[in-house]
Amino acid sequence: MTNAIVLFGPPGSGKGTQAKLITGCLGIPHVSTGEMLRKRVRQGEGVSSAVAATMQSGALVPDEVVNAMVEDRLSCPDAAGGFVLDGFPRTVAQARHLRDWLEARGVHEVVIHLVVDYNVVIARLTGRRQCPRCGTLYHIVLKPPKTDQLCDLDGEPLMVRDDDREQVIRDRWDAYAGQTLPVLEFYRETGQRVMDVDAGDEPPECVFEKIRRAMESNDRS
Ligand code: AP5
Repeated sequence: MTNAIVLFGPPGSGKGTQAKLITGCLGIPHVSTGEMLRKRVRQGEGVSSAVAATMQSGALVPDEVVNAMVEDRLSCPDAAGGFVLDGFPRTVAQARHLRDWLEARGVHEVVIHLVVDYNVVIARLTGRRQCPRCGTLYHIVLKPPKTDQLCDLDGEPLMVRDDDREQVIRDRWDAYAGQTLPVLEFYRETGQRVMDVDAGDEPPECVFEKIRRAMESNDRS
């Protein structure tokens, strides 16, 4: 397996947007821990009400819950040829768990760090809308749907995520700064190359092009 891709970055850096472009290009699954947790909460399946409350507050769900969920997902047959991880790992303990899992299979991760400023994050997340049926992402200013509040693809009314209120976005940013940024140190200290991609100023297609070029240069080195 050569395509164990980790998309790393703060809330609103575009991990979900870029993961969809990469998976569309490479034909490998998009593994988003946020989406998996939200689905389980909606269906009342496999997670406690404490997990739902944790997510609504902007804090991180316990490592053991997320590690077990990711391990199950990566063991599915469709992930045998690779996957794009979006939102995992988010703590050093998760990064160690992933490293052990991949090393046991002789695989190294490719880490792409999407770099954006706090102000960009606030503007993106307060305007984000999502189709609850197909998951397509919109933004009320930057990427509005053709018909107000309806998904272009299936006409479903768009929704605002529970954790996209400004105070919760601040708390998610704090969780990122306190618990997730140290993962970059872990990678650098253990010799893992991290590819920094400026993801703040250009539209998603341009950011994707930068990722594609960074991955090509990584393949060559
Ligand atoms: P999660 O769902 O992973 O949320 P997040 O990391 O906060 O990231 P977002 O989904 O908010 O943003 P994104 O980077 O994917 O950006 P997007 O592409 O949507 O996690 C939610 C919660 O689940 C966590 O708070 C935690 O509680 C829990 N959780 C999840 N994983 C966990 C883990 N591993 N451990 C513990 N807990 C975990 O883009 C945002 C907006 O910007 C969109 O409107 C989009 O259209 C727009 N946009 C994107 N790119 C661009 C661009 N280049 N230009 C203009 N607009 C853009």
